[in-house]
Amino acid sequence: MNEYSISAPQIDFKARTEAAPYIPLLSVIVPTFNERVNVTKLFDKLGHALTGIDWEVIFVDDNSPDGTSDVVRDLAARDARVRGIRRIGRRGLSGACIEGILASSSPFVAVMDADLQHDETQLPKMLAALRDGQAELAVGSRYVEGGSADSFDKQRAGFSLLATGIARRLLQVSVSDPMSGFFMMRRDRFEELAPQLSTQGFKILLDIIATARGVLRTVEIPYRFGSRLHGESKLDSMVALDFLGLVLAKLTNDAVSLRFLLFALVGSTGLAVHLATLFVTLKLLNLPFAEAQACGAFVAMTTNFILNNFLTYRDQRLKGFAVLRGLLAFYFVCSVGLLANVGVAFAVYDHEPTWWVAGAAGALMGVVWNYAMSGLLVWRKR
Ligand code: GDD
Ligand code: MN
Repeated sequence: MNEYSISAPQIDFKARTEAAPYIPLLSVIVPTFNERVNVTKLFDKLGHALTGIDWEVIFVDDNSPDGTSDVVRDLAARDARVRGIRRIGRRGLSGACIEGILASSSPFVAVMDADLQHDETQLPKMLAALRDGQAELAVGSRYVEGGSADSFDKQRAGFSLLATGIARRLLQVSVSDPMSGFFMMRRDRFEELAPQLSTQGFKILLDIIATARGVLRTVEIPYRFGSRLHGESKLDSMVALDFLGLVLAKLTNDAVSLRFLLFALVGSTGLAVHLATLFVTLKLLNLPFAEAQACGAFVAMTTNFILNNFLTYRDQRLKGFAVLRGLLAFYFVCSVGLLANVGVAFAVYDHEPTWWVAGAAGALMGVVWNYAMSGLLVWRKR
């Protein structure tokens, strides 16, 4: 038991229901994953930066193993301006931000990182720009006069600029730093866009700007991107993939999802694995063709499952015992997919006896089936 848990249950519910609703002017949404040390520091800094403003902070934690949620709860027991959301079985920066914003009733919401790399002293300026109606979105920018990203190493700086260039050109985004994770906006504007936003990936601001298609009046407020003092960055090489996925989805009006493309890509590596296994079992182990072909299919399904679990569904990765259950379900899905594949190919061949048209139609049917059913039965949303 800690010093706060004693006072927590003594809430006077009657007084609460009769009290006027308390809605702060500004909610600061902070996604966290393993930021135990940083949350308290950030809270103190917010307290200083936002004096005179009615504010709250909502930490959205994806069940961090380091117990970030416990620290948040302790803070909340001391100070009513602190709220926490603990998400279980889900990972993702964008999704966490979206849930945090939707949990707020304040007219203005800000998103910032927990690791003190964003400059909280810019929040009052952002708020002022929104309050006087000058803008609906205030972007913390490293790439306008007065801002900087000099804490980046060369590689990260290069990637950031490249991605910014691609986003600005392909998605016709005009702000200088759409990759920024630091911004403030009107909550009612966000609510309008929320159903179309992607919960996968890191690029929530880019998603908001691209989805709004230029209707959000925007200002950019310069800030210096600091260095992380405690804990580690969670950005890895997968971020590049997430970014491409978002660009693709926005360019095609959500018709093509990166998940489907990855699934199909993994499927085509399965073909290579299948042929290699066939070669080994047939030529080196001298198995009869039918057995060798079955081995090939079995090995290919297994490697496909592993790759999909690592890449395509990395945000819903199966672990522990669930891997075995998922693998068996995947074998089942793919076996039925094969029947669908052959069935469609036969039907098309009946009408149009061109081998590759029929073959391709069958394969397409197979991959669409496998994709749809895998999403339902193997990597189902918990
Ligand atoms: N809830 C939740 N779930 N939070 C997460 C997750 C997650 O899966 N991954 C990261 N976070 C939190 C971190 O705890 C941190 O507070 C914040 O999101 C940013 O994560 P970092 O891992 O520190 O990212 P970064 O510093 O490398 O990248 C930042 O700067 C980029 C600009 O170059 C982020 O703000 C990016 O969004 C931004 O594009
Ligand atoms: Mn960071």
